[in-house]
Amino acid sequence: MPSAIALTPVTIALSTDSHSAPAEPPISANQSAQSGWRGLINAYRRYLPVTDQTPVITLHEGNTPLIPVPTIAAAIGRDVRVLVKYDGLNPTGSFKDRGMTMAISKAKEAGVKAVICASTGNTSAAAAAYARRGGIRAFVLIPDGYVALGKLAQALLYGAEVLAIKGNFDQALHIVRDMSEHYPVTLVNSVNPYRLEGQKTAAFEVVDALGDAPDWVCIPVGNAGNITAYWMGFCQYHQEQRCTKLPRMMGFQAAGSAPFIAGHPVEHPETLATAIRIGNPANWERAIAVQHASQGSFAAVTDAEILEAYRLLASNEGIFCEPASAASVAGLLKVKDQIPTGATVVCVLTGNGLKDPDTAISHSDNQLKHGIEPDLGIVAKAMGFE
Ligand code: F0G
Repeated sequence: MPSAIALTPVTIALSTDSHSAPAEPPISANQSAQSGWRGLINAYRRYLPVTDQTPVITLHEGNTPLIPVPTIAAAIGRDVRVLVKYDGLNPTGSFKDRGMTMAISKAKEAGVKAVICASTGNTSAAAAAYARRGGIRAFVLIPDGYVALGKLAQALLYGAEVLAIKGNFDQALHIVRDMSEHYPVTLVNSVNPYRLEGQKTAAFEVVDALGDAPDWVCIPVGNAGNITAYWMGFCQYHQEQRCTKLPRMMGFQAAGSAPFIAGHPVEHPETLATAIRIGNPANWERAIAVQHASQGSFAAVTDAEILEAYRLLASNEGIFCEPASAASVAGLLKVKDQIPTGATVVCVLTGNGLKDPDTAISHSDNQLKHGIEPDLGIVAKAMGFE
């Protein structure tokens, strides 16, 4: 089992004493159904840096399903249990809502009037939705031409001020970090510590659903905030004795944007999975610390492998995630020989497939049959009935 001792570099802002707090029973699906789920800050308040004075800006995010995917388990060919944490079912369609409810609530508490982020799309959608709900202005910088259509539509309609720069995510992040130091705008990328505090609740939910931590967590890696946040969550629950073990954190990057595998920043990252088209992750040191503490590893998956997993999840399991999310399943299939028999594996599906209809249509094996006359016989024939 990975060691909880070597956690210090990543267990940031954990104020809870591991021995003094009595373990509360997990929040069951029944309880949440009876009282109504009111978002992750209300559900996990005692684990989060909020007070009674913090205005909770929420869209009732979190409480997303952990779904068994037996055909993926079967493809591994041994006795393993595989589940997906489908965070694409959050209010704006990605895991970013978990971080943004915290970041925007704390910004509101501090009297902030405007927030800013760089984004490959999902952060911008979540920042825009939560900021506007909190009555705050949202500025977002995106790489021009490399943001999936649905995400762009969201940011615009939620009312963000969207600036498309002639550059990539890494360049956009550099600018917004500078901006937040020189202008009255608060940064809500994952270098904002409240983002990770919110995102760690996904690990709590996984443990609450399984009754313990899984053996492995497979997760797509871009700016490396989410892998850090999951680890924080597992460690905090472990310290509180809510789980008996810690998982190995297995991070997967797209082959054309894989700085952790290269061992250095990638100047011109490329991948069809635009959400993780990142060459210089802001949470670099933290992610490496997570890898060491959890005895995990990083690996690269090609766009072809990502697309294969993306299609498998949709057509065999009925789960439509975005390409970047499918990197977790592609990665699992790639390193399947390393999985111990009997292991429980959770793959994180970070975003909803509806965000990127262009990729779905252009990379589906299944094509539309056009131009069919509205006639019973003709339709039946087109269906293969004689
Ligand atoms: N999956 C999706 C769908 C994402 O949008 C992102 C990151 C990741 C995985 C990687 O998470 O950065 O915490 O390692 N998207 C950011 C954005 C960069 O701007 O929306 P990470």
